[in-house]
Parts: sequence; C-alpha cells; structure tokens
Amino acid sequence: MYHMELTSASRSHAIPSQPLIDRFPFPFKEDKYRYSNNSKALESPLVLDITPEYFEEVKSKRDILAKTHNRAYQALSHSMDGQWEILENIIEEMVEQHPGYFGLEKDGDIWTFYNYLLEEQQTFTLGDPSTLPYEPLDFIGRHVQEDLIYIGHRNGDLYMDAGQLCFPANWSIAFNLGMTYTEFHSPVPHYSDSGLAEKVRNFLLRMEAGKPWTRLNWTLTVDGVLPTFPEIFDEWGTKANEVTVENAGERVYLRVEDQKLFRLPRSYGILFGIHTHLISVEELCKKQEWAVRFCNVLEDLPDYMAEYKGFLSYKPYLVQYLKNSF
Ligand code: HEM
Repeated sequence: MYHMELTSASRSHAIPSQPLIDRFPFPFKEDKYRYSNNSKALESPLVLDITPEYFEEVKSKRDILAKTHNRAYQALSHSMDGQWEILENIIEEMVEQHPGYFGLEKDGDIWTFYNYLLEEQQTFTLGDPSTLPYEPLDFIGRHVQEDLIYIGHRNGDLYMDAGQLCFPANWSIAFNLGMTYTEFHSPVPHYSDSGLAEKVRNFLLRMEAGKPWTRLNWTLTVDGVLPTFPEIFDEWGTKANEVTVENAGERVYLRVEDQKLFRLPRSYGILFGIHTHLISVEELCKKQEWAVRFCNVLEDLPDYMAEYKGFLSYKPYLVQYLKNSF
C-alpha cells in the first residue's frame, strides 16, 4: 500500500538563480590533466546540490525511468538495507538543509515526506518497501538531481550493488551491476596498469563514516545531452562527427561530474553521488582564463584519454575554436 498525492502548496519556493558561469565547477587547477586520486575531504558533508535546473532534470530522470526503467535503475536484493539508509540520510539532509523545499513528519516508523517544489507527498513505513511505489533508492532518486550508486563492501571488496543512473557518461548500470570496483573500472585506460586503481581501491576500503570525500571528473558532450547511455550510442555518439571549428562553441559542452563518496555506517556500504553539470564552450569562453586553461589542457592531453572520453576526432576543431576566442 502506498499513496502519493499532490499537496495544495504552490511552488512558492523558487530556486535562486545565479548565472551558470558563476557557479560552474570548473575542474582544471593547472594547465595539464592526468588521472590521479584527486579526491578531497568534503567540507560540508552534504549529498545534494539543488540548482535552477532541478525541475528540468528531475522531469528528465522520471521520463527516462518511465520509458526505460531497467536501463536506468538496477539493484541486487541484498542492497535493500543500504537503500533504506540512503533514503533516510537524504531525507534528513533535505529537511535540515532545505526546509523551504522539503518537509517530513514522523510518527514512529511511519514517515510522511513532502516535496514542496513538486507539490508531492508520500507516506511510508521505514523498512517496508511495499509502502513505497518504487524501491527506496529508486524513490528518493526521483526527488534529486544526482545519480545515486550504492557500493556494497563485503569479502574485503567493493561491489556495484545498486544504482539509479539516468545521466551516465557512457557507462551502464545494467552492464556493471554486481561487478567489483576493479572490474567496473577496467575500461579506463592505464588506470589499472599504472597502479592507481589499486591505490584508490585501498583508499575506498578504508573510508570512514562521517568523513566524506569529493572529486570532479570531466568529459565532453555534444549538444549538452545528459543521458549518454551506451545502449543508445547511435542517438548521441554520432554527433561527434558534426563538430566543426565554426560550431564547436555552441555544440560542444564541458561536462563535469561532482562526485561525492559517503561511508554508510549501518550497512557499511558506500554511497557514490554524481551531480552532472554542463556548460557550453561558448559560455565557458566568457571567462578568458578558463578558455586559455581548457585549451592548454586539451593540447597536452594524451590521445588515449581523448579517445576514451570520446572527443579525439573533433579535438583539433575545439582547440582552434578556443584559440580564436582569445
Ligand atoms: C565507489 C566509487 C566509484 C564508482 C562507483 C566509480 C565508477 C566509475 C565508472 C562506472 C566509470 C566508467 C568506466 C567505464 O568507462 O565503463 C569510472 C571512471 C573513472 N573513475 Fe571511477 N568510480 C568510483 C570512484 C573513483 C575514484 C575515487 C576515483 C579516483 C581516482 C575514480 C577514478 C576514475 C577515473 C579516472 C575514471 C575515468 C573517467 C574519465 O576519464 O572520464 N573513480 N568510475
């Protein structure tokens, strides 16, 4: 039994709008980029970042989940405790940090969650999945912009046990489900053979509750497509062939994943949150120091990384566009 209905509240809590260029997490700290463990302690230990794109992105996630659920949501049955822990943590954060957007009433284990932004409410019993319309991770993921991955920690290893992934940077939760950390990173060139994969794995195995980490990852996407699923590569991947020096500013987007890692003390798993931000190269060039730095990073980048990230074919056009901008 579950119920979900609209409240009478109106959308009175507009999300403050700051220009994208002033809030975009530009990822380059120097003129070159190589893989490294660029994780940093997360100063304010929060999973969520609510931006003006909230409505559009949550709608897009829900459309994807409605049409192609198995592509965007997968979970092994033993992930259920971890899923409840994630739901509880996220709802607590929502109401503490954003009381104007979300609310919660508790009657013992019976919780009523309010999303004032979307004018929705849901009553459910903690720990009883039959009281929710979807599994807990799949439910709470429909109220946030982040993709949410649950990593199980058992037998001294890390496993991809569940995930709601609507905006993948060309990887598949359906394909990766159940894989170990080493297995799901195997497509990343020179990640294992350089010894970095093992170092990062040991770092993740030692992660402690209450000490979350964050890192930025980046790639490029043509036309700002967020759901770059490998399963529909033909719908977005071939756009790379259409990039020219003239249109690179408008069509190519820098895509930055703000990734956050939390040890979950109860299930002893890890929550891996991914908030994907996009900015067109044209917009990015409004900050000349960003355009110059980005250009230097691209020129220095080894081909194997540009190839893996999917832009080797149009990199020269993009570099030329950037040079023309300063
Ligand atoms: C448990 C947390 C993590 C999960 C679930 C995760 C998952 C993934 C996945 C699925 C990919 C794509 C692989 C593919 O092409 O199929 C990837 C790429 C990558 N991961 Fe992780 N990862 C995690 C933590 C980390 C950390 C802490 C680092 C730190 C160095 C890292 C470094 C990388 C790098 C360098 C890539 C390649 C990205 C690119 O070049 O665009 N990962 N990760």
